[in-house]
Amino acid sequence: MRIVVLVSGTGSNLQAVIDAVSSKELTVEIAAVGADREGTYGVERSAAAGIPTFVVDFKAYADRANWNAALAEAVAAYAPDVVVSSGFMRIVSADFIAAFNGRYLNTHPALLPAFPGAHGVRDAMAYGVKVTGCTVHWADAGVDTGPIIAQEAVAVLDSDTEETLHERIKVAERGLLVRTLGELAAGALPGL
Ligand code: GRF
Repeated sequence: MRIVVLVSGTGSNLQAVIDAVSSKELTVEIAAVGADREGTYGVERSAAAGIPTFVVDFKAYADRANWNAALAEAVAAYAPDVVVSSGFMRIVSADFIAAFNGRYLNTHPALLPAFPGAHGVRDAMAYGVKVTGCTVHWADAGVDTGPIIAQEAVAVLDSDTEETLHERIKVAERGLLVRTLGELAAGALPGL
């Protein structure tokens, strides 16, 4: 299974996938890693791992439609079976998702459909939930919507800040993403 991973920042979830592939825990081919802006650590660490990288800078395009088309073209060049949004902080168009037969996987740091959006951890804390977690799902053109594939719960501690809670969620998120990709590659999940 060939994957292209899209990142906007640090890429620690991506690093978990890279590590799982190099330790042979996970049998997928990371065809490329792409970002929506220059200078991300996600792209830097991928290049260091010898993975092809590309940037389709959102700010360099006149509008979202042009950016989407350029992103679709850049991703399609690597002929992925699955495109993974791993901390990719942009909504893509329905056309983009259709270009990859709906095989656009997203990870989110909350138990969807609760707390979608860019501040899932902060919003869950503000609401006062005692349990939150992470979700891996097939993404559609909405904000963190689409069929849920897997979830893992994480308890909220009284002592938590947004940062400490997000760090624990990300530990769960990394494992969930690697396991889900493994199951998809093995044909053990519907959708491929
Ligand atoms: C993850 O929690 C992801 O779900 C969220 O941002 C975080 C990205 O972390 N949207 P990283 O870039 O993989 O370290």
